[in-house]
Amino acid sequence: MIRKAKIEEVPVVQNLINTEAQKGHILPRSLSYLYENIRDFWVVEEDGQIQGCVALHVVWEDLAEIKSLVVDMVRRGQGLGKKLVEQAIEEARDYGIKKIFVLTYIPEYFLQFGFIPIDKSQLPHKIWSECINCPKFPNCQESAMLKVLEG
Ligand SMILES: CC(C)(COP(=O)(O)OP(=O)(O)OC[C@H]1O[C@@H](n2cnc3c(N)ncnc32)[C@H](O)[C@@H]1OP(=O)(O)O)[C@@H](O)C(=O)NCCC(=O)NCCS
Repeated sequence: MIRKAKIEEVPVVQNLINTEAQKGHILPRSLSYLYENIRDFWVVEEDGQIQGCVALHVVWEDLAEIKSLVVDMVRRGQGLGKKLVEQAIEEARDYGIKKIFVLTYIPEYFLQFGFIPIDKSQLPHKIWSECINCPKFPNCQESAMLKVLEG
């Protein structure tokens, strides 16, 4: 079941994200960040357990970002990540958002959803404020991918 995260699930979501962040694949998230942004988050729940999460963060009138996509290591390869990304895309459509981007180390994963590679310089400056706190700044190898929503 894919649904919006609940406030009491913040510690579980943080554990999912920060376990993966230790491997350098995604950015870690503080409890403060997660409580402030919990309304961005979708989770996938199976057998009463949170198995994955994704966030859709609105950036500007026509732009949103997919963030913090992670599926528990033992549940990977079973389509959960795909469901989470599709849910985030659906939510963006419902909001009337025209473009979604993602900064990622696995750009090939996002091709299946219609994202295409773009130059990072095409993204607005305001999105880089987070990067200053990243240990990899300024030598980050993430790729920027963009999906334009039709209709
Ligand atoms: C990326 C991630 C969320 C994918 O979750 P998942 O549940 O294993 O993915 P799915 O099972 O939904 O995969 C859907 C399809 O993508 C393919 N795929 C999975 N990982 C892939 C990768 N790294 N690169 C390319 N394709 C990939 C699968 O083979 C599958 O193809 P199929 O539909 O033809 O069988 C998961 O591997 C993860 O948590 N990774 C660590 C965190 C991370 O890197 N997040 C991305 C941040 S932008």
